[in-house]
Amino acid sequence: MTTKAGLKLVDLDESGVDNAFRADVLKGLGQAQKAVPARWFYDDAGSQLFEDITALEEYYPTRAETEILRDHSEEFAGLIASGCAVVEFGSGSSVKTPLLLRAIDPAAYVPLDISGDFLRAAAQDLSDKFPGLPVHPVEADFMRRVELPKAVEHLPKLGFFPGSTIGNMVARTAVDLLRSMRETLGVGAQLLIGMDLIKDRQVLLDAYDDAQGVTARFNLNLVHRINRELEGDIPADRLAHEARWNDDYARIEMHLVAQGALEFEVAGARFTMQDGETIHTENSHKFNRRTANMLLLAGGWEPRMRWLDKAGRFALILASAQAERGAP
Ligand code: AVI
Repeated sequence: MTTKAGLKLVDLDESGVDNAFRADVLKGLGQAQKAVPARWFYDDAGSQLFEDITALEEYYPTRAETEILRDHSEEFAGLIASGCAVVEFGSGSSVKTPLLLRAIDPAAYVPLDISGDFLRAAAQDLSDKFPGLPVHPVEADFMRRVELPKAVEHLPKLGFFPGSTIGNMVARTAVDLLRSMRETLGVGAQLLIGMDLIKDRQVLLDAYDDAQGVTARFNLNLVHRINRELEGDIPADRLAHEARWNDDYARIEMHLVAQGALEFEVAGARFTMQDGETIHTENSHKFNRRTANMLLLAGGWEPRMRWLDKAGRFALILASAQAERGAP
């Protein structure tokens, strides 16, 4: 994938395989605790399975965040700079993004995504829904500072990062991302960010291990992707989906657990697993008011306002880019 500026965002080998995917999988499977980064879940099948997850009874975050966006639209309008450019980190959700845009009536919408196809489809969908709104999609890796289009340079900025996707990052990566968002958006910017909250353990476990097995298929899709794209022969039928609560780190972890001793090959390298050994595939951190505030502050953002859904499961937080200042 190449950007308009000629920058290569995805480095493919001669057979079209993403070199970063191969490198991450080979490194991750070679570790004492086998692990593959969760970003590799999202091929076409994985993205569809994630959409299916968001409609599950057990998976409350999408409904809870949508409820907050619906219920508090007038407050957003009062607190968010009018005539701002909304910069969404990710291609945008067909339900949540329109709710925000309708609430605050912005001057422009800038979706940022590394995947050009999703980005263009989402931008088109938005343009159809908001015919008068200038939409400027930017194909970019938003984990680093992104150059925003000249057309929005002089507008106040609101970053939008819903879904508690920040929770899929370990603290260090999350802080790096918040800092680069601050650099991308500039001094005086605001950020509206979704964070899922710590709650009853069984509610959390069910959200990541639903009765219909959709989340299990989402987890195992990673194995099918590895086998297909990296010439692997991992026996997917001998790996079981497991969601665990890690209390020390306040996170749900997803694992694939070996059902018996396994031996397999990926991209020409051999790997073994003992019975019960796991491949760690995802972290989904959960927050409380203090840990959410601490994370935002560490990333250079001052929390200003926080809204919860009625059941108190999920938080949407408005923060502003902190000015540099001396202690205390
Ligand atoms: C995308 N992300 C916020 C989801 C989550 O809840 O951590 C991914 C997911 N994994 C399993 N179910 C949903």
